[in-house]
Amino acid sequence: MSTTARQVIDRTRARLKIRTRLRAFADPTSGPARPTVQSGANGAAPRKGPAPLTPVGPGHRTTPQGTWRIEPGTGFFDRHPRFLDTSEVAANNWRLNLRHEAIITANKDVLEGAEVLDIASHDGRWTAAALLAGARHVVGAEGRPELVEHAAENLAHYGIGPDRYRFIVGDLFSTLEEEKPQADVVLCLGFLYHTMRYDDVFRLMRQSNAEHLVLDTRIEPSDEPVMRVRTNGLEGQGSAFTEDPISTGQVLVGRPSVPALRRMARVYGYELDRYPDWFGILEDNPDAREVGVYKKGLRATLRFRRDRSLDVAAAPEA
Ligand SMILES: C[S@@+](CC[C@H](N)C(=O)[O-])C[C@H]1O[C@@H](n2cnc3c(N)ncnc32)[C@H](O)[C@@H]1O
Repeated sequence: MSTTARQVIDRTRARLKIRTRLRAFADPTSGPARPTVQSGANGAAPRKGPAPLTPVGPGHRTTPQGTWRIEPGTGFFDRHPRFLDTSEVAANNWRLNLRHEAIITANKDVLEGAEVLDIASHDGRWTAAALLAGARHVVGAEGRPELVEHAAENLAHYGIGPDRYRFIVGDLFSTLEEEKPQADVVLCLGFLYHTMRYDDVFRLMRQSNAEHLVLDTRIEPSDEPVMRVRTNGLEGQGSAFTEDPISTGQVLVGRPSVPALRRMARVYGYELDRYPDWFGILEDNPDAREVGVYKKGLRATLRFRRDRSLDVAAAPEA
């Protein structure tokens, strides 16, 4: 073969290699093509198609108009107002009522009769909401003892028996590793932006053997599987919590894009299942306040389901 012909072949091979690498980098699933859900972070219509590269979009509602309308005074947190007093963190009734629709009402099908693990259970707001939506039992994990006290008082106030819940107090990275609570559904709400330990969180969620994960978190608006590096203070109820003696009063936290969350979830055997209809929830409640982050696609609620086809070696049938 002549030198020129060899050079052309080498150049073509190199170009193909680069193109393949770029595609793998951009593709959040980076696996074999499979039908998947594709939609905006907050409720664009699910479509069949290749792996989504543009998860944040204008979207449109996926349920009939009026489905999510909350008449003044009738939302979950209007009916359970103690939670507005026992937390300093975004305890606005509109915001919490709308989150309740996306987190609880939209996931009632998997919460009914379920064992639930509530990661960062705070003052018990979502533990109570899950139990009142029909969950059988909830284990809450929370670092701040005073919040766990509020949670127990709140649940007692709303007539929920102590046999239906248990709270684990302390840094959840050590407590959950030690206790390994099992669950059908994990609620991981308002927590992921308090940590950089995503690998550990996903491993802890998988360790629970949950069939479904419901995540609600701030997201980085990007088509790429990226994470923005940020820091979080340790003061106040809405901050990170750590028992690490080496501390500057700040912890590293990450803000992932939706493709990044999907990529991390897949490594632990979970596939994106659905986006609750945030677009419809917001459209039906135009007067809602303090929900700008959801409107702008900077915060999302996502439901993942266990996909056993992602396991490398499935255990043989008994
Ligand atoms: C923003 S609040 C979220 C409350 C609730 N889950 C929600 O979504 O409305 C975050 C909670 O996570 C708790 N937290 C943060 N880092 C933690 C850790 N490493 N271990 C246990 N709890 C932690 C905080 O104490 C706080 O109650």
